[in-house]
Amino acid sequence: MNILEQINLNETPQHIAIIMDGNGRWAQKQGQDRLFGHNIGVESVREALKGAQEIGVKYLTLYAFSTENWNRPRAEVEGLMDLLIRTIAKEVDELNESNVVISTIGETSGLPDSAQKELQDAYDRTKDNTGVNLILALNYSSKWEILEAVKKIAANVKDGNMSVDDIGYETIDLNLNTKDIPDPELLIRTSGEHRVSNFLLWQIAYAELHFTEVLWPDFKREDLYKAVLDYQSRERRFGMTSAQITK
Ligand code: FPP
Repeated sequence: MNILEQINLNETPQHIAIIMDGNGRWAQKQGQDRLFGHNIGVESVREALKGAQEIGVKYLTLYAFSTENWNRPRAEVEGLMDLLIRTIAKEVDELNESNVVISTIGETSGLPDSAQKELQDAYDRTKDNTGVNLILALNYSSKWEILEAVKKIAANVKDGNMSVDDIGYETIDLNLNTKDIPDPELLIRTSGEHRVSNFLLWQIAYAELHFTEVLWPDFKREDLYKAVLDYQSRERRFGMTSAQITK
C-alpha cells in the first residue's frame, strides 16, 4: 500500500502549519547560493499544497518570512522579497483556478509596496473560492501577534468597551491575526531542527509536532502524507487520560 492509501481520510487534520526550513543548507550542499535554495523551495510549496488538496486539508499555513528574517544579509532579504512578489504574480492564476483562497498573517504593511500590491490582488481574486486556504505568514512573529492582541484588548478596556473580567481565551483568539482560522492540529518543521521559532505559539497549544530531517527543497507531497500518518498514529489526549479518550 502506498503512503496515500494508508491515510484515514476521515481523520485528516483540517489545518496543517509548516516551518519550511533548510533552503540555505540545501543550496550550500549543491555549491550554490542560498537564494537558489529558496527558489527551489517554491516547488516544495506547490507539492505541499497539492498534497493538502489531495487529502482534504482545509487550511495550510506556511512560515515564509519571519520578523527576525529581516536580520539576514541584505541581498538575501531582497532576493526573498523579489521571489515572493514574482511567485505570487506567476502562480495566482493557477491557484485561483484550483479554487485556493490566499491570505496572510503578519505585519504585511512592513513589506515592500510591490509585494503588498501583489498580495492584495491575490486576496481579491481568490476570496470567494471554496477550496484550500493557503495562509502565508509574512513578516510574522507570534510574540508580535500576541503583543498586538494585548494592546488592542487593553485599549478596549481603557475605552470602557469591556471590563477586565470579560477577557477570556476567546478574546485573545479573536484579536489574533488567525481569528477566522481554526488552530492547527499538526505542525511540521523540516531540516531536523526541533524548534518552533516564534510561530503560532498560542495556536499550537495542542498541536502535534512532526519534525523531519528532509530539507525544504527536497520536501514532496509524500513527506506531507508521512507527517499526517505520524499525526494519525498519535493519541491526542488534551490533558485527559488514555482511558478517557479510548472509552
Ligand atoms: C528557511 O530556510 C526558509 C525561509 C526563511 C524562506 C522560505 C521561503 C520559501 C520556501 C520560498 C518562497 C515561498 C513562497 C510562499 C512564495 P533557511 O534559509 O533558514 O535555511 P537554512 O536553515 O538551511 O539556512
